[in-house]
Formats: sequence, structure tokens, C-alpha cells
Amino acid sequence: MDQLQTIDDQRAWSRAAHMAGKRIGFVPTMGALHEGHISLIAKARAKSDVVVASVFVNPTQFDNPEDFAKYPITLEDDLAKLKAAGVDAVFLPTKEAMFPDGYCTFVELVGPLTDKMCGAARPGHFRGVATVVTKLFNIVQPDVAVFGEKDLQQVLIINRLAKDLDIPVEIIVGDTLREPDGLAMSSRNRRLSPASRQKALDLTKGLELARRAYKQGESTSLKLCEFVYNELLIHEGVEVDYCDVVSLRGFEEKDIADDTCFIAAAAFVDGVRLIDHVHLAGPAIPVAIDE
Ligand code: PAJ
Repeated sequence: MDQLQTIDDQRAWSRAAHMAGKRIGFVPTMGALHEGHISLIAKARAKSDVVVASVFVNPTQFDNPEDFAKYPITLEDDLAKLKAAGVDAVFLPTKEAMFPDGYCTFVELVGPLTDKMCGAARPGHFRGVATVVTKLFNIVQPDVAVFGEKDLQQVLIINRLAKDLDIPVEIIVGDTLREPDGLAMSSRNRRLSPASRQKALDLTKGLELARRAYKQGESTSLKLCEFVYNELLIHEGVEVDYCDVVSLRGFEEKDIADDTCFIAAAAFVDGVRLIDHVHLAGPAIPVAIDE
């Protein structure tokens, strides 16, 4: 596995791959890798000839400096996992190379995709994501890039920006990988104590309860969100950041849910921010619910 530290080296690598007639698949990450990330690499491999992954904790997408400072960094372990997954090259730029002194250009989407959920709760977050992903696309020049459904709003935003800015890359969505008990895998789960992890699982349970209630005829969004609040607010140290019912058609918030909708929530669990969602008409989240 090639390790590329500079933008020039990554560009030269990608140019050589394209000259050899190879399709480049790309999986951008912020490291602290888990099986969810690795599943995206398998997906990229199936759609391309060579796979590039990047590991870069992007400072511009953190609205909270403490969250950035506490973001887990496990580079040695990440490199071993990427190598084992058969990645051909890993791009490891420095902060200074990506955002040198004087940097002042940002990519910002406006409208329904960014005015709600994490866009409203984390000002500047998606501007940071859109900017770094645009830069990574320009550097790596991928033919295909894979993003997780786990961050649904993010992948829709990236898909839109690639279209709007005429970036010739196919965006592919990978399923959300979960722990055996149902908790969505996340780099941030490493920061949860066993007790916090138990509370975190109630985010997943609340969403699954809402999905079941919808299936049984409940379509009032406020009522559906109550399932999430009821599961989480019994715990000390848990704060719900948002809970929204949103339609994939137009990315509109709905008072009355229909089959185009998903329910998404973000919560701080003992200071760790976690997100999850479920499609109301979709399959169940495999999480135990005591009835
Ligand atoms: P990061 O959180 O490291 O996630 C990298 C990719 O892994 C994203 O596409 C994310 O949706 C996906 N992912 C995370 N958890 C997953 C899970 N449980 N199952 C499947 N895929 C999962 O998302 C980012 O980094 C950054 O915002 C980035 C796009 C790299 C830009 O900085």
C-alpha cells in the first residue's frame, strides 16, 4: 500500500493510474477506522480497479473545538486495517497542506439540504465537509467515491455538490454497519464508557420504536419523535440535539410522515455527539426492544 503525504504525490499517483487505464475508487475518512469504513472500501473495490482511501481529520468541519481536540486518532491501527482491506494508496495530507495560511475559499450549499438537521445544529459543519471533499476530489480525481448512508445528509450534499460543480465522479452509498446490539458503528463510539454506550443504544431503540409505530399507523411526526425523546430523556447526561421527520423527496420536514420519510436524530450522550436515522417504510434496525 502506497502512503502519500503530499498533494503533488497523490496527484502523480492518480495520474499514473489513469494513464494505465485504471478506474480510481475513493473512500475519504477521518480515521479511527471501524468495520463500517472498511465495508465502504470493499464497495469501492467492486466498482473500480484501484482504491484510494484518505485519512484527514478536517478541522473546518468541527463547529466545536473541543470535539475536534477529542477526535480519536489511531493512525497505526488505521494503516494496518487499510492494508488488510487491500487499499492501493492512502492519502495522508497535513492540515497545513490542505488549509495553508491565507486559505479563504469555501464550498457552501444553500437550501433544504443544509438548512435542517446537522446543518442547523452544527453551523459551518457542512461548509467544512463540502470544502474538504471538493478539495479531495480535485486532488485524488476519483471515478467513483463511496460514502456511508450512516451520514445520510452528508452523502446527499456531496452528491448534489458533485452534480452542481460538474465534478465527474460517481457517488455510491454504502449501508450503515451496526454493532451486534444495533448501535451504529462510529469513530466516536470509542469515547463512550460502558454506561454511556448503554444510553447511546436508546437512540437506536427510539428510532426503531418510531419506525414500528409508523408501520402500525402512526404518522404524526411529533408523535414519532416522542418515541426517541422518551427513550433518551430518562437518562442523566443525555441531551437530544434534534429529532426530525424528513422526506427524501425535496428534503422537506413533514408534520405528517409518509413512505418517503426517514426519522433522524442527534444526541449528546455524556458529551459525545451521535447520530442515527431509519427509513420509516424501510427494514427494521436489528435492536432488542423489551415490550
Ligand atoms: P468519517 O466519519 O470518518 O466517515 C467516513 C465515511 O465512513 C463516511 O462516508 C461515513 O458515512 C462512513 N461511515 C461512518 N460510519 C459508518 C457505518 N457505521 N457504516 C458505514 N459507513 C459508515 O464522514 C466523514 O468521515 C467526513 O465528514 C469526511 C467525508 C471524510 C470529510 O471530512
